[in-house]
Amino acid sequence: MRKPIIGGNWKMHLGTPNEAISLIKSLKSLIKGIKNVDIVIAPPFTVLESVVRELKKTDISVSAQNMYFEDKGAFTGEISPLFLKSMGVKYVILGHSERRQIFGETDDLINKKIKKALKESLIPIVCIGENLNAREAGKTKEIIRNQMNFTFQDLIGQDMIKIIIAYEPIWAIGTGKTATPKQAEEIHIFIRDILKEKYGENVADEIRIQYGGSIKPNNAKSLFSRENIDGGLVGGASLNSESFYEIIEAAEKNT
Ligand code: PGA
Repeated sequence: MRKPIIGGNWKMHLGTPNEAISLIKSLKSLIKGIKNVDIVIAPPFTVLESVVRELKKTDISVSAQNMYFEDKGAFTGEISPLFLKSMGVKYVILGHSERRQIFGETDDLINKKIKKALKESLIPIVCIGENLNAREAGKTKEIIRNQMNFTFQDLIGQDMIKIIIAYEPIWAIGTGKTATPKQAEEIHIFIRDILKEKYGENVADEIRIQYGGSIKPNNAKSLFSRENIDGGLVGGASLNSESFYEIIEAAEKNT
């Protein structure tokens, strides 16, 4: 049985300590009964440290939303994995479609970041997903297969079991258009089949695949009830403690 994992990707929101801490305090009191779900919060860099401090002595982990693949150097504006580790950050989101589309990140760059994160024992949450054109042209599986080939290039099964994959169809992100549970499950099965081909059944069975894209309290339960959907990466609905909690609760009830 894979333990569900729910991530809150705050994106470029709640980046001041007051806003961030107020949400975290409220979330902490709401999630007291949650036992069977891994919870991860990915706030902006500016509040990582405050959030880590506020979450000490809880089971909630903290993720960065990005990082660079070097330890240090002349890389203006970038953040080293060593800095993240020193702050107590455990996870890092890599290859989010906004990084790919707005900031031009390539599979090759994301692959370097994944390798570096693993080397530094940060857990990568790696996002893959097709855009609307690809979906409408019937190319979803082709795109997913390519992204997996290139972003996970050179990784072996032992690496892969440390990674969380987030399937995030781009047309569903921030649009209010969720993939139906059936559409999402179909691609999750496809992803797991590729993992089986490449790394064998045991590895494939172990890897958690989150769904992401307009998850809300009212659609979370039906998504999480699907066998291959192991939780979610939540954007908009993670900016409010109650709605984020309801999504966590939907995952808990499904265990
Ligand atoms: P959304 O974002 O829930 O606002 O659609 C999800 C994500 O981008 O991770």
